[in-house]
Amino acid sequence: MSPTRVLTGITTSGTPHLGNYAGAIRPALAASREPGVESFYFLADYHALIKVSDPARVQRSTLEIAATWLACGLDPDKVWFYRQSDIPEITELTWLLTCVAGKGILNRAHAYKAAVDRNRSEAQDDDAGVSAGLFMYPVLMAADILLFNAHKVPVGRDQVQHIEMARDFGQRFNHLYGGPAGKEYFTLPEAVVEAQVATLPGLDGRKMSKSYDNTIALFAPSATLKKQIASIVTDSRAPGESKDADSSNVFALYRAFASQEETAAMRAAFADGIGWGDAKRALFERIDAQVAPMREQYEALMSRPAQIEAILRDGAQRLRAAHATPLMSRLREAVGLRALTDGPVAASAGPVRVSLPTFKQYRGDDGRFYFKLVDGDRVLMLSGGFDAPKDAGQRIATLKRSGRLDRADATLSVGDGVGADEIDAALTALALAAER
Ligand code: TRP
Repeated sequence: MSPTRVLTGITTSGTPHLGNYAGAIRPALAASREPGVESFYFLADYHALIKVSDPARVQRSTLEIAATWLACGLDPDKVWFYRQSDIPEITELTWLLTCVAGKGILNRAHAYKAAVDRNRSEAQDDDAGVSAGLFMYPVLMAADILLFNAHKVPVGRDQVQHIEMARDFGQRFNHLYGGPAGKEYFTLPEAVVEAQVATLPGLDGRKMSKSYDNTIALFAPSATLKKQIASIVTDSRAPGESKDADSSNVFALYRAFASQEETAAMRAAFADGIGWGDAKRALFERIDAQVAPMREQYEALMSRPAQIEAILRDGAQRLRAAHATPLMSRLREAVGLRALTDGPVAASAGPVRVSLPTFKQYRGDDGRFYFKLVDGDRVLMLSGGFDAPKDAGQRIATLKRSGRLDRADATLSVGDGVGADEIDAALTALALAAER
């Protein structure tokens, strides 16, 4: 049985936070250890350019995220680990998908719609400050996924719509260009959202996200982690007052890092009125215990960027050879980006000449020198006799250059059933070929 391909990417626009870890990295790494899984992890640095115009930040973030995944246990010998911009086929596919993607579908993308809504509420033009890159974000993401025929894509809930769009674009492409069933180009991917911790709340209670600036860094030093956790927004219930676990950010974070038993115990403590200070201390201890060994790895890796660079390049190179290049060449063929000598054009005869006619020189029974113009088996034109082979050669050269039959030259005779126009076409083809 062929393996299930699981693919996930992280935009290189910030420092990995607990939400990235719980929502993407951890579930993806767990899935990669299951039998029958082929995993793909990549740094979505093209996506970063949509939001970040600070080159140093893009580079720094790429390093941090790569170091994070390696520190979290990714083994580059067992999974595909690469950087999006090292795979030129991704941008190439983006264009092919752009040409099948419905603009109306992109209009409905959450990120784009949110920008439009913001503009409207401020009485601005709908598209004020919206780059075409933001608008096209889902198409680039679809290319990431479809190029590797991923079956499953572990993402946060906010990304589910993008996976649906990838399915839609892939399906349209298959429909437009697909061969018989089972010979389709793209596998239609499925989003996988871990039920418990699809998205974590940030410091202010909104979804933990770089864009809200409310994140808790995954590998901040222990003291910083403690301080950040202490600053999580809570209600003002005093110690001893019963608290609702399900509406608490502290609890939501705790359960993302705790076992079922620990979670149940914490839920009971909330009902019993645990103070916020104690709850936060328990949260810090739970997270720090899980993170500390990985943090040590992370720091070691961050001090060796050349090693990470080599790992990424090697991954991209092998992955291109194994997946991207072969599929892309099938896709180019599918849409008609073909060598002009390939496929249906060659078969359709028509006006396009695939093999060139040739001049053949020979010596006649009378001892004189002749030439003929042949196209495959057909003789298009015959010459009269020349005294020397050199003279025949010179006549051939002028005919080739002219690209046209010299109708006044009575020594040239036309082959059986051949029209003068056909000879013109053959000579033109030769003249053009000589120019190239
Ligand atoms: N858009 C994703 C995010 O912001 C990152 C991403 C880019 C991605 N391409 C992807 C995730 C392909 C999964 C698959 O989190």
